[in-house]
Amino acid sequence: MLNKFSRPKIVSVGAGNVGATFAQYCAEMELGDILLLDIVEGLPQGKALDLMQAGVVRGYSVSIQGSNDFSDMKDADIIVISAGFPRKPGMSRLDLLEKNGKIIANICEYIKQFAPHAIVIVITNPLDIMVQLAFHLLNYPPSKMMGMAGCLDSARMCSFIAEELQVSQKQVNAMVLGSHGDLMVPVPEYTTVAGISVKELIPQERLEQIIDRTRKGGAEIVALLKTGSAYYAPAASSARMVQAILRDEKALLPCAVYAQGEYGISGVFVGLPCILGAQGVEKIVELPLTDENKVLLMKSVEEVKQGVQSLKELGFEIS
Ligand code: 2OP
Repeated sequence: MLNKFSRPKIVSVGAGNVGATFAQYCAEMELGDILLLDIVEGLPQGKALDLMQAGVVRGYSVSIQGSNDFSDMKDADIIVISAGFPRKPGMSRLDLLEKNGKIIANICEYIKQFAPHAIVIVITNPLDIMVQLAFHLLNYPPSKMMGMAGCLDSARMCSFIAEELQVSQKQVNAMVLGSHGDLMVPVPEYTTVAGISVKELIPQERLEQIIDRTRKGGAEIVALLKTGSAYYAPAASSARMVQAILRDEKALLPCAVYAQGEYGISGVFVGLPCILGAQGVEKIVELPLTDENKVLLMKSVEEVKQGVQSLKELGFEIS
């Protein structure tokens, strides 16, 4: 008799470096059955087969399939979109606006048709603007739509702090808010090592350098790789969000979420601390910020609003 499984269905739209590595991390955690979707013939199928076979050795047992047929996303519980062009050296994330906007708009048509109830996480850059576009096109409840960036930017800050202090990365917690761009807002007040404020451990001037490196963390890797952008940490951060949702963890993570008055921000996606659980974004957590960080967060919001405006001027339907 054949076994029937009732595992969550995770769909990775994009089977490039980010999408496939995301699938790998989800499989390693056995978060659900995984479908890789991509327009490139053979790519998602080949990577899915390879990942299935790796599972024999790595000790995971979930179904991983690949397809070029976007109707296969039917009944998805969660869809993670990484499809799009990555940055090349010298490009800003905003340079990708038009090309990636068209890709997101196409994908949204499929989601509307085949998986209108799935929770959607956007990774494609420029992140905050792409998630706002998808939100508008899908006409979604804000709880079911979010962008991955804060987890990634915070991970980068954690890693730099651990390196600086020569302590375990596992003991560092960092908080990076705002847009996923040069105006992101690393928050040292909520950054700790084993519960100790980082401000007690690292002199201010050095901390400023780490903050600056965090802001440029993506560009640092783009400059090194030369042909594309980072993918291990972006994929791991997305898998972390999916884990929090599918396991109903109520985990407090910084994500790009739709603000509706929190922090004095309304009607725009930007990185804020939130609780992720089975319902998606279950709550945006409001924390006191220093006056300086409040100003920086508002600059970040302005950057996102300007990006949304540029997309409008390019003829996209977005509010
Ligand atoms: C990064 O920061 C790809 O935007 C992503 O690496």
